Amino acid sequence: MIYVLGSINNDILLDVERIPKKGETIVADGCQTGLGGKGANQAVAIARLARKYDDGRKSVHMIGKVGSDAVGAELIKKLDEYNVGTEYVRQVNRPTGMSVSAVSGKDNRIIVYGGANLGISKSDVDEALQNATSADTLLCQLEVPTYIVGYALRQARSYGMTTILNPAPAKELPDDFYCNTDIITPNKAETQILTGINPKDWDSQLAAMKEFHRRGVRYVVLTLGENGCAISDNGKLVTQVPARKVTAVDTTGAGDTFVGAMALTYPHVGMYSFKEACLFATRAASLTVSRHGGAESIPEFDEVCELYSKKIGDK
Ligand code: RIB
Repeated sequence: MIYVLGSINNDILLDVERIPKKGETIVADGCQTGLGGKGANQAVAIARLARKYDDGRKSVHMIGKVGSDAVGAELIKKLDEYNVGTEYVRQVNRPTGMSVSAVSGKDNRIIVYGGANLGISKSDVDEALQNATSADTLLCQLEVPTYIVGYALRQARSYGMTTILNPAPAKELPDDFYCNTDIITPNKAETQILTGINPKDWDSQLAAMKEFHRRGVRYVVLTLGENGCAISDNGKLVTQVPARKVTAVDTTGAGDTFVGAMALTYPHVGMYSFKEACLFATRAASLTVSRHGGAESIPEFDEVCELYSKKIGDK
């Protein structure tokens, strides 16, 4: 079972020809609203990819909060429809979290309002994890209060669970975050904020991965967009995983697809090695960027497998 502790947002996606400059107003070509939030997106990615294996059971459960309004209820309904367990999602008397994105091809700018996401408490985490075992995984991001994420990682570690931290949006983290994290998945910007190292080439990527290991993380996955990812298993297996070349039409949710796919295939299904799981995840994300939309653009397992059996770099 995978538990995702994280944000559930009402996303507004505006299609724009280009990102506006400071002080400028531009007209959008299109607008979509729907389920978003890094937590919800990653949970949906896992649920969609796991459908082949879960025999009608739910492989992923969301721990989160939305507003007690129609928008909040609608987002819970959508999570249910995607087969994400919602028994640990509560409606509270705060506005539902929201995000507004300006999307121009590969480029996007996102502003997030935390709202109900910021109301998650330690007792919500305790309730959700009370029956968790060492066979289970906890996946977190940083769109809910940082101290709650730290608490959840600690609790999960004490139950022997696998812990994954997608440190987005990046912020300075206390030391115990790292030693309670099995797998960390920062992108370039997040790596620079967290380690002070800009992972612009292989040497700097090695240095950044080493720094995460020094702080106590076992597996490091630096996601490098169209350049795939750099991975390190405690310095034992250190390598690059190339991305598949595609024409990106909308990068929203690609990082979330990557993280969800890796969380599912590595610790949970247990059928892939660390490197294979990362390769599978880059394939899944390549499908997401070649489609418009948020959760709807996340592929299913077989679609990824079809690509996965092809040679690296093949279209
Ligand atoms: O990673 C994409 C997500 O970031 C969006 O769905 C938005 O809600 C923000 O949380």
